[in-house]
Amino acid sequence: MGPIYLDNNATTPVLPAVWDAMRPFLADVYGNPASSHHFGRKARRALEDARERTAALLGARPDEVIFTSGATEANNLALFGLAGDPPAHLLASPVEHPSVAEPLRQLAEAGFRVDYLPVDSTGAVDPDDLPGRLRPDTRLVCVMLVNHETGTIEPVRDLARRLEGRAAFHCDATQAVGKVPVRLDDLGVTSLSFSAHKFHGPKGIGALVVRRGAPLRPRTWGGHQQQGRRPGTEPVALAVGLAVALERAVEEMDRRCALIRELRTHFLSHIRAAAAPVALNGPEEGGVPHTLNLAFPGLRADALLMNFDLAGVACSTGATCSSGSVLPSPVLRAMGVPDDRLTSAMRFSFSPLLTPAEVDEAARRVAEVVTRLRRAGG
Ligand SMILES: Cc1ncc(COP(=O)(O)O)c(C=O)c1O
Repeated sequence: MGPIYLDNNATTPVLPAVWDAMRPFLADVYGNPASSHHFGRKARRALEDARERTAALLGARPDEVIFTSGATEANNLALFGLAGDPPAHLLASPVEHPSVAEPLRQLAEAGFRVDYLPVDSTGAVDPDDLPGRLRPDTRLVCVMLVNHETGTIEPVRDLARRLEGRAAFHCDATQAVGKVPVRLDDLGVTSLSFSAHKFHGPKGIGALVVRRGAPLRPRTWGGHQQQGRRPGTEPVALAVGLAVALERAVEEMDRRCALIRELRTHFLSHIRAAAAPVALNGPEEGGVPHTLNLAFPGLRADALLMNFDLAGVACSTGATCSSGSVLPSPVLRAMGVPDDRLTSAMRFSFSPLLTPAEVDEAARRVAEVVTRLRRAGG
């Protein structure tokens, strides 16, 4: 058996049906969707059809879907676009992806006051903590739906209810779309973001879904596309791919989740039996089954990553490795994870395309590497 891919939170392969749907819009239907002639109108119809289907699947209206290059751009657009001018107060979780955390740091530098909600040992925010932390000048609250490192599901709907419309609410739903039900109308947030490549769609497209009437300022200027909120020629083929991948993911969500849950349980029990001591960073139950963050105390994440790769298992570290040192993940740090679990944390993430035989083999390879490194003294 060749290399086994357990890094599906980083990205996923494009499904053949998605690629088939996209292909005509790269070669045959090549008009600019802003052009008024026949070629342009044909492209425009495909683009608007993709927008309508995306909106319907996410409980939104077509004019509430802004296609972007992905979640990073969508998060930046939401944060800078909804924050307005300083001074004002922004409130966020401390476990956000860097594409939210970094804009927040920049907004703080620009004169906003940014506060962080506490999280428990699984990284979950408590909705009861929200009201006491709001200030009269709170303009934006930002909490993700599913954590990229641990799979923890945040209580976004409850948070939005407690907020009672006193500020805008942006939710990074990148690791949630296609894995758990995500609907703008149901969550009660102002905006949500995602990337198509996380659910077997193409790279280079995502969206910010933002409520009609929200005071969103553009971040780029120069065209009238997407009501001027994200100008520039829309990538029609990518939008078609996003819509088809999303349709599939929503249709097959229950089946995919059940399959992945079984794979994860199997993988985890194998590793626990063959590579103890192993610690689970994140929820044992109740999170999305796609993500498994495991620590191997006594070992270093950078050595594990390299040796897993050599053994034919692709995963990622739960910590950042740079210039020979392991920088603990801010997500795990915020959860209060002890040091030896911070520096040995590895993220395994699953997809419905994996077979039980592949997952079995991956677990065997992981356990073998861990045992060998422990014998060698780390
Ligand atoms: C939670 C979360 N938000 C945002 C992003 C950024 O997505 P992209 O790199 O597609 O812009 C990621 C990607 O890993 C993510 O996991």
